[in-house]
Amino acid sequence: MQKRKEIGTIPPMDKTTFFSLASAAADAAAEIQLSYLKEGVTYHSKSVRHDRVTQADTESEAAIVERIRRDFPDHNIYGEEEEYRKTRSDYTWIIDPLDGTNNFSKGFPFFAVSIALSVNGNLIGGLVRDPVRNETFSAYRGTGAYCNGESIHCSETVNLQDALLATGFYYDRDSRMEQTLREISCLFRQGIVGIRRTGSAALDLSYIAAGRFDGFWEFRLHPWDFAAGALILSEAGGMAETRELTPLPLDKPSSILASNGYLHSQLHSVLETCPA
Ligand code: IPD
Ligand code: CA
Ligand code: CA
Repeated sequence: MQKRKEIGTIPPMDKTTFFSLASAAADAAAEIQLSYLKEGVTYHSKSVRHDRVTQADTESEAAIVERIRRDFPDHNIYGEEEEYRKTRSDYTWIIDPLDGTNNFSKGFPFFAVSIALSVNGNLIGGLVRDPVRNETFSAYRGTGAYCNGESIHCSETVNLQDALLATGFYYDRDSRMEQTLREISCLFRQGIVGIRRTGSAALDLSYIAAGRFDGFWEFRLHPWDFAAGALILSEAGGMAETRELTPLPLDKPSSILASNGYLHSQLHSVLETCPA
Protein backbone atom coordinates (compact mmCIF):
# COMPACT_ATOMS: atom_id res chain seq x y z
CA MET A 1 0.00 0.00 0.00
CA GLN A 2 1.32 3.46 -0.91
CA LYS A 3 2.39 5.48 2.11
CA ARG A 4 0.35 8.62 2.75
CA LYS A 5 2.35 11.79 2.06
CA GLU A 6 3.48 13.75 5.12
CA ILE A 7 2.52 17.48 4.98
CA GLY A 8 6.24 18.41 4.95
CA THR A 9 6.86 16.52 1.70
CA ILE A 10 4.08 18.24 -0.26
CA PRO A 11 5.35 21.06 -2.51
CA PRO A 12 4.04 24.18 -0.77
CA MET A 13 1.34 26.20 -2.48
CA ASP A 14 2.70 29.66 -1.80
CA LYS A 15 0.75 32.87 -2.10
CA THR A 16 2.09 33.77 -5.55
CA THR A 17 1.35 30.33 -6.98
CA PHE A 18 -2.16 30.39 -5.52
CA PHE A 19 -2.98 33.88 -6.81
CA SER A 20 -1.61 33.36 -10.28
CA LEU A 21 -3.42 30.06 -10.75
CA ALA A 22 -6.71 31.16 -9.15
CA SER A 23 -6.79 34.39 -11.16
CA ALA A 24 -5.96 32.66 -14.44
CA ALA A 25 -8.79 30.19 -13.74
CA ALA A 26 -11.19 33.01 -12.77
CA ASP A 27 -10.24 34.95 -15.93
CA ALA A 28 -11.14 31.96 -18.07
CA ALA A 29 -14.53 31.59 -16.34
CA ALA A 30 -15.24 35.34 -16.42
CA GLU A 31 -14.60 35.45 -20.16
CA ILE A 32 -17.09 32.64 -20.77
CA GLN A 33 -19.71 34.37 -18.60
CA LEU A 34 -19.34 37.78 -20.22
CA SER A 35 -19.60 36.28 -23.67
CA TYR A 36 -22.83 34.42 -22.79
CA LEU A 37 -24.20 37.57 -21.17
CA LYS A 38 -23.61 39.41 -24.43
CA GLU A 39 -24.77 36.65 -26.80
CA GLY A 40 -27.69 35.33 -24.73
CA VAL A 41 -28.01 32.93 -21.80
CA THR A 42 -29.78 29.57 -22.05
CA TYR A 43 -30.65 27.58 -18.95
CA HIS A 44 -32.42 24.49 -17.70
CA SER A 45 -33.76 23.68 -14.23
CA LYS A 46 -32.08 21.41 -11.66
CA SER A 47 -33.92 20.42 -8.43
CA VAL A 48 -36.93 22.71 -8.98
CA ARG A 49 -38.04 25.07 -11.75
CA HIS A 50 -36.36 28.16 -10.21
CA ASP A 51 -33.06 26.29 -9.49
CA ARG A 52 -31.47 27.15 -12.81
CA VAL A 53 -28.21 26.07 -14.41
CA THR A 54 -26.85 27.72 -17.53
CA GLN A 55 -24.32 26.57 -20.09
CA ALA A 56 -22.01 29.17 -18.60
CA ASP A 57 -22.08 27.40 -15.20
CA THR A 58 -20.87 24.10 -16.61
CA GLU A 59 -18.44 25.57 -19.14
CA SER A 60 -16.94 27.87 -16.52
CA GLU A 61 -16.39 25.01 -14.09
CA ALA A 62 -14.76 22.92 -16.85
CA ALA A 63 -12.43 25.81 -17.71
CA ILE A 64 -11.44 26.32 -14.06
CA VAL A 65 -10.80 22.62 -13.49
CA GLU A 66 -8.81 22.33 -16.72
CA ARG A 67 -6.60 25.25 -15.60
CA ILE A 68 -5.99 23.74 -12.13
CA ARG A 69 -5.29 20.25 -13.49
CA ARG A 70 -2.73 21.58 -15.93
CA ASP A 71 -0.50 22.47 -12.93
CA PHE A 72 -1.82 20.18 -10.19
CA PRO A 73 -3.40 17.06 -11.71
CA ASP A 74 -3.58 15.25 -8.37
CA HIS A 75 -5.37 17.96 -6.35
CA ASN A 76 -8.94 17.30 -5.22
CA ILE A 77 -11.75 19.34 -6.70
CA TYR A 78 -15.02 20.07 -4.91
CA GLY A 79 -17.17 21.95 -7.39
CA GLU A 80 -20.87 22.69 -7.70
CA GLU A 81 -21.56 21.27 -11.15
CA GLU A 82 -19.60 17.98 -11.31
CA GLU A 83 -18.48 15.23 -8.98
CA TYR A 84 -14.75 14.51 -9.19
CA ARG A 85 -12.81 11.39 -8.29
CA LYS A 86 -11.28 11.72 -4.82
CA THR A 87 -7.47 11.71 -4.84
CA ARG A 88 -4.92 11.22 -2.04
CA SER A 89 -3.86 14.87 -2.19
CA ASP A 90 -4.19 17.06 0.90
CA TYR A 91 -5.20 19.98 -1.32
CA THR A 92 -8.83 20.63 -2.24
CA TRP A 93 -10.06 23.37 -4.57
CA ILE A 94 -13.58 24.46 -3.62
CA ILE A 95 -15.24 26.03 -6.64
CA ASP A 96 -18.46 27.83 -7.45
CA PRO A 97 -17.94 28.63 -11.12
CA LEU A 98 -20.88 31.05 -11.21
CA ASP A 99 -22.38 32.25 -7.95
CA GLY A 100 -25.60 34.09 -8.74
CA THR A 101 -26.97 31.91 -11.53
CA ASN A 102 -30.54 33.17 -11.23
CA ASN A 103 -29.29 36.76 -11.61
CA PHE A 104 -27.13 35.71 -14.56
CA SER A 105 -29.97 33.81 -16.25
CA LYS A 106 -32.08 36.98 -16.19
CA GLY A 107 -29.25 39.26 -17.35
CA PHE A 108 -29.13 40.91 -13.91
CA PRO A 109 -25.44 41.81 -13.73
CA PHE A 110 -24.53 40.60 -10.24
CA PHE A 111 -22.69 37.28 -10.07
CA ALA A 112 -19.21 35.99 -9.39
CA VAL A 113 -16.64 33.25 -9.81
CA SER A 114 -15.57 31.81 -6.44
CA ILE A 115 -12.40 29.74 -6.01
CA ALA A 116 -10.93 28.61 -2.68
CA LEU A 117 -8.11 26.27 -1.72
CA SER A 118 -7.91 24.20 1.45
CA VAL A 119 -5.10 22.02 2.81
CA ASN A 120 -6.15 19.22 5.12
CA GLY A 121 -9.46 20.98 5.75
CA ASN A 122 -8.00 24.47 6.41
CA LEU A 123 -8.67 27.30 3.98
CA ILE A 124 -5.47 28.89 2.73
CA GLY A 125 -6.56 30.91 -0.29
CA GLY A 126 -9.70 32.53 -1.66
CA LEU A 127 -10.55 34.54 -4.76
CA VAL A 128 -13.91 36.01 -5.79
CA ARG A 129 -14.14 37.64 -9.20
CA ASP A 130 -16.99 39.94 -10.27
CA PRO A 131 -16.65 39.94 -14.06
CA VAL A 132 -19.09 42.81 -14.65
CA ARG A 133 -17.48 45.34 -12.29
CA ASN A 134 -14.03 43.90 -12.89
CA GLU A 135 -13.43 43.52 -9.16
CA THR A 136 -11.34 40.73 -7.69
CA PHE A 137 -11.49 40.07 -3.96
CA SER A 138 -8.73 37.84 -2.70
CA ALA A 139 -6.94 36.58 0.37
CA TYR A 140 -4.19 34.20 1.37
CA ARG A 141 -4.19 33.01 4.98
CA GLY A 142 -2.32 35.33 7.31
CA THR A 143 -1.62 38.03 4.71
CA GLY A 144 -4.74 40.21 4.63
CA ALA A 145 -7.54 40.72 2.12
CA TYR A 146 -7.47 42.68 -1.12
CA CYS A 147 -9.72 44.11 -3.82
CA ASN A 148 -7.89 44.60 -7.11
CA GLY A 149 -4.61 44.60 -5.20
CA GLU A 150 -5.68 47.24 -2.64
CA SER A 151 -5.90 46.20 1.01
CA ILE A 152 -9.50 45.99 2.29
CA HIS A 153 -10.98 45.99 5.79
CA CYS A 154 -14.38 45.45 7.34
CA SER A 155 -16.47 48.39 8.53
CA GLU A 156 -16.20 49.64 12.09
CA THR A 157 -19.97 49.73 12.51
CA VAL A 158 -20.75 48.90 16.13
CA ASN A 159 -24.50 49.63 16.35
CA LEU A 160 -27.08 47.55 14.54
CA GLN A 161 -28.91 50.82 13.84
CA ASP A 162 -26.05 51.74 11.48
CA ALA A 163 -25.91 48.37 9.75
CA LEU A 164 -26.57 47.48 6.12
CA LEU A 165 -27.11 43.72 6.03
CA ALA A 166 -27.50 41.05 3.38
CA THR A 167 -29.34 37.75 3.34
CA GLY A 168 -30.22 34.97 0.94
CA PHE A 169 -33.24 32.87 0.04
CA TYR A 170 -33.57 29.27 -1.03
CA TYR A 171 -34.43 26.97 -3.86
CA ASP A 172 -36.76 25.18 -1.42
CA ARG A 173 -39.44 27.61 -0.30
CA ASP A 174 -40.27 25.90 2.98
CA SER A 175 -40.00 26.72 6.68
CA ARG A 176 -36.45 28.12 6.26
CA MET A 177 -37.82 30.68 3.86
CA GLU A 178 -40.64 31.60 6.28
CA GLN A 179 -38.15 31.94 9.14
CA THR A 180 -35.87 34.17 7.04
CA LEU A 181 -38.81 36.46 6.30
CA ARG A 182 -39.63 36.65 10.03
CA GLU A 183 -35.99 37.42 10.79
CA ILE A 184 -35.94 40.22 8.23
CA SER A 185 -38.85 41.75 10.08
CA CYS A 186 -37.14 41.28 13.50
CA LEU A 187 -34.02 43.02 12.20
CA PHE A 188 -35.95 45.91 10.67
CA ARG A 189 -37.60 46.42 14.06
CA GLN A 190 -34.10 47.11 15.43
CA GLY A 191 -33.97 50.17 13.18
CA ILE A 192 -31.19 48.96 10.87
CA VAL A 193 -30.24 50.94 7.73
CA GLY A 194 -31.43 48.20 5.38
CA ILE A 195 -31.27 44.64 4.10
CA ARG A 196 -30.18 43.62 0.60
CA ARG A 197 -30.67 40.30 -1.17
CA THR A 198 -28.04 40.38 -3.91
CA GLY A 199 -28.25 36.77 -5.13
CA SER A 200 -24.53 36.03 -4.74
CA ALA A 201 -23.34 34.83 -1.34
CA ALA A 202 -19.69 35.01 -2.48
CA LEU A 203 -20.10 38.73 -3.18
CA ASP A 204 -22.14 39.29 0.00
CA LEU A 205 -19.18 38.02 2.05
CA SER A 206 -16.64 39.94 -0.04
CA TYR A 207 -18.70 43.10 0.41
CA ILE A 208 -18.54 42.73 4.20
CA ALA A 209 -14.77 42.33 3.81
CA ALA A 210 -14.70 45.59 1.83
CA GLY A 211 -16.85 47.46 4.40
CA ARG A 212 -19.84 47.78 2.02
CA PHE A 213 -22.08 45.49 4.09
CA ASP A 214 -21.89 44.97 7.86
CA GLY A 215 -23.39 41.51 8.18
CA PHE A 216 -24.98 38.58 6.36
CA TRP A 217 -26.95 35.48 7.26
CA GLU A 218 -28.49 32.57 5.41
CA PHE A 219 -29.86 29.24 6.60
CA ARG A 220 -28.30 26.87 4.10
CA LEU A 221 -25.26 27.42 1.93
CA HIS A 222 -22.80 25.01 0.35
CA PRO A 223 -19.04 25.26 0.95
CA TRP A 224 -18.56 26.39 -2.67
CA ASP A 225 -20.84 29.39 -1.96
CA PHE A 226 -18.91 30.60 1.08
CA ALA A 227 -15.37 29.12 1.19
CA ALA A 228 -13.50 31.85 -0.70
CA GLY A 229 -15.66 34.67 0.73
CA ALA A 230 -15.28 33.42 4.30
CA LEU A 231 -11.47 33.46 4.09
CA ILE A 232 -11.47 36.89 2.45
CA LEU A 233 -13.77 38.14 5.20
CA SER A 234 -11.70 36.74 8.06
CA GLU A 235 -8.52 38.19 6.52
CA ALA A 236 -10.30 41.58 6.37
CA GLY A 237 -10.97 41.43 10.12
CA GLY A 238 -14.47 39.96 10.06
CA MET A 239 -16.07 36.69 11.12
CA ALA A 240 -17.97 33.93 9.33
CA GLU A 241 -19.40 31.01 11.32
CA THR A 242 -22.44 28.80 11.41
CA ARG A 243 -25.53 30.13 13.21
CA GLU A 244 -24.49 27.96 16.14
CA LEU A 245 -21.23 29.98 16.21
CA THR A 246 -19.14 26.97 15.22
CA PRO A 247 -16.55 26.83 12.40
CA LEU A 248 -18.04 26.54 8.91
CA PRO A 249 -17.71 22.95 7.64
CA LEU A 250 -15.96 22.59 4.27
CA ASP A 251 -17.59 19.30 3.28
CA LYS A 252 -21.34 19.81 3.72
CA PRO A 253 -24.00 22.55 3.61
CA SER A 254 -24.52 24.68 6.69
CA SER A 255 -26.09 27.86 7.96
CA ILE A 256 -23.95 30.98 8.01
CA LEU A 257 -23.69 34.11 10.13
CA ALA A 258 -21.10 36.62 8.98
CA SER A 259 -20.22 40.12 10.11
CA ASN A 260 -17.58 42.76 10.57
CA GLY A 261 -16.93 41.14 13.98
CA TYR A 262 -18.27 44.05 16.06
CA LEU A 263 -21.90 43.20 15.25
CA HIS A 264 -21.58 39.44 15.51
CA SER A 265 -23.12 38.88 18.91
CA GLN A 266 -25.85 41.53 18.43
CA LEU A 267 -26.87 39.95 15.12
CA HIS A 268 -26.77 36.48 16.65
CA SER A 269 -28.93 37.50 19.55
CA VAL A 270 -31.60 39.22 17.39
CA LEU A 271 -31.79 36.16 15.11
CA GLU A 272 -31.90 33.69 17.99
CA THR A 273 -34.63 35.59 19.83
CA CYS A 274 -36.76 36.16 16.73
CA PRO A 275 -39.96 34.08 17.14
CA ALA A 276 -39.90 30.83 15.10
C1 IPD B 1 -26.81 30.91 -4.74
C2 IPD B 1 -26.36 32.30 -4.36
C3 IPD B 1 -27.43 33.00 -3.56
C4 IPD B 1 -27.79 32.20 -2.32
C5 IPD B 1 -28.22 30.79 -2.71
C6 IPD B 1 -27.10 30.12 -3.49
P1 IPD B 1 -25.93 29.81 -7.05
O1 IPD B 1 -25.79 30.23 -5.46
O2 IPD B 1 -25.17 32.28 -3.61
O3 IPD B 1 -27.02 34.28 -3.13
O4 IPD B 1 -28.86 32.85 -1.66
O5 IPD B 1 -28.50 30.08 -1.52
O6 IPD B 1 -27.50 28.82 -3.85
O7 IPD B 1 -26.97 28.73 -7.10
O8 IPD B 1 -26.32 31.03 -7.79
O9 IPD B 1 -24.57 29.32 -7.33
CA1 CA C 1 -23.51 29.48 -5.28
CA1 CA D 1 -23.22 28.29 -8.76
